[in-house]
Amino acid sequence: MSDLKTKKSIVIYFSRADENYGVGYIEKWNTEVIAEYIQELTWADLFKVERKTPYAKDYTTCIKEAQEEIDNDERPEIVNTLESIDDYEVIYVWGPIYRWQLPQPMVTQLEKLNWEWKIVRPFTTHEGSGLAGVPSQLRNLCKWAEVLEWLAIRGSSVYQAKDTVENWL
Ligand SMILES: Cc1cc2nc3c(=O)[nH]c(=O)nc-3n(C[C@H](O)[C@H](O)[C@H](O)COP(=O)(O)O)c2cc1C
Repeated sequence: MSDLKTKKSIVIYFSRADENYGVGYIEKWNTEVIAEYIQELTWADLFKVERKTPYAKDYTTCIKEAQEEIDNDERPEIVNTLESIDDYEVIYVWGPIYRWQLPQPMVTQLEKLNWEWKIVRPFTTHEGSGLAGVPSQLRNLCKWAEVLEWLAIRGSSVYQAKDTVENWL
């Protein structure tokens, strides 16, 4: 496992500030805290997926928007698109659990990439659902990639999670 840390890597992640479950309004986003640990520990590049029209700031409306997007199987527009992962061997795919899966803007991005021969290291932050449906969602999205062991951390405990992340790496 340890030599995975030395391979050319990128973290592709989605993360949102504003009001969230269990933590109220936050300025530093849960998944982003972990993405930055990874960058510090592996020198991976970071690519943040951002929805062109941000989700609502309040949690209740945001939940409705996220659910609607899933129900309609939408591909929301994103601010920047990562066109290729050809330069990378290891791809960290990170996101919060939204309604038991990855947020749809991640689907918009992940579907655009060629995953053949890549090593995928998935991670979620959540507030009780753990990995939920993300393993099967990623097996569909990252076709022909080798998808390795998962890590799931409660969003409200990301600041206590650095050791866990380091051991997982
Ligand atoms: C729209 C929305 C849907 C969510 N759905 C779930 C869920 O189904 N299960 C769960 O455990 N947590 C859920 N959560 C909580 C987030 O997964 C958790 O707070 C996460 O750490 C947020 O990460 P972020 O701050 O990087 O965006 C949801 C949060 C939001 C905003």
